[in-house]
Amino acid sequence: MRAVLCKEFGPPESLSLEEVPAPALGPGQVRVAVKAAAINFADTLVIQGKYQEKPPFPFIPGLELAGDILELGEGAPKHLAPGQRVIGLSPKGAYCSEAVVDAAMVLPMPPGMDYAVGASFPVAYGTSHMGLVDRAGLKAGETLLVLGASGGVGLTAVEIGKALGARVIAAASSDDKLALCRAHGADATINYATEDLKARMKELAPKGADVIYDPVGGDAFDAALRCVAWEGRIVTIGYASGRIPSVPANLLLVKNCSVIGHYWGAYARHNPARLGQSLLELMRMWSAGTLKPHVSHALPLAQYAEALRLLMDRKATGKVVLTIG
Ligand SMILES: NC(=O)c1ccc[n+]([C@@H]2O[C@H](COP(=O)([O-])OP(=O)(O)OC[C@H]3O[C@@H](n4cnc5c(N)ncnc54)[C@H](OP(=O)(O)O)[C@@H]3O)[C@@H](O)[C@H]2O)c1
Repeated sequence: MRAVLCKEFGPPESLSLEEVPAPALGPGQVRVAVKAAAINFADTLVIQGKYQEKPPFPFIPGLELAGDILELGEGAPKHLAPGQRVIGLSPKGAYCSEAVVDAAMVLPMPPGMDYAVGASFPVAYGTSHMGLVDRAGLKAGETLLVLGASGGVGLTAVEIGKALGARVIAAASSDDKLALCRAHGADATINYATEDLKARMKELAPKGADVIYDPVGGDAFDAALRCVAWEGRIVTIGYASGRIPSVPANLLLVKNCSVIGHYWGAYARHNPARLGQSLLELMRMWSAGTLKPHVSHALPLAQYAEALRLLMDRKATGKVVLTIG
């Protein structure tokens, strides 16, 4: 099988595409012929040794994929069968032509969903759904401010926030990115490259945002912290800007607000049942037409470096996928 390998930490160009033996299939596992693998910002960090988890070398980057079941391991659940189109969460890598995934991390793909959408669905939508519902407790009628709103997780937060009945304010760095956010349900937008976030928020939501969803960190977080409403909740999702912010505790005190951490992938260990339930709910929302996944670029597997660079250079919107086969 073909696989992109990381043999030492470095930039995307230090990875290599190689022919490697297919992994062994264990009990309760599923072998999948991978048709598409999504790029996540986390992948850009893992390959550089900048992520909280550091897999042993050599490893295959990637977390999520879609494809066809080739083979079932002993004891795999009866609702799965060879030939079935599935989505898989694959902590052992996804940039490859064949993957072995735990059956518990495999989800049948709904009819009509294509491989590119399937591969790019679980991490971004799953993170935003549990981030907004379970962590922030976002309620209908509340104001939600999403930073990095045209990105992978950002755009899903815009859609899910809207579906939950919130008023959604999307913040991003260009007018094109903000137009995409409006097309996905944002009620108002802020270009934080050209406008002052705090001043614009004063105009758009004088009482502040009840929930702030932040995959960016850095200066955007610092500015957003000044825009939170009384008893507001700031969900810290990630630090795409490259800077992990610090919080002056007095700002939390005067607003009775909370900063809430959210590491979605960790639910696979801590509460897999809730993670699965959330993904099924999201599939239902997709089947009902409530969610409209956006894939800005689909590139062949051999263009893995270019695909990773699209995220690192802020040129991607929604998701970027690698196509295989
Ligand atoms: N906690 C979790 O469970 C979880 C799950 C998924 C992702 N994440 C994290 O969430 C963050 C976003 O992930 P993603 O996959 O959505 O990434 P993405 O698609 O690349 O989106 C990131 C967004 O951040 C903004 N950004 C600001 N400064 C940037 C910079 N220097 N480089 C790149 N982007 C920058 C960009 O929007 P503008 O140009 O509009 O600013 C971009 O749209 C990452 O830190 C990732 O690790 C966390």
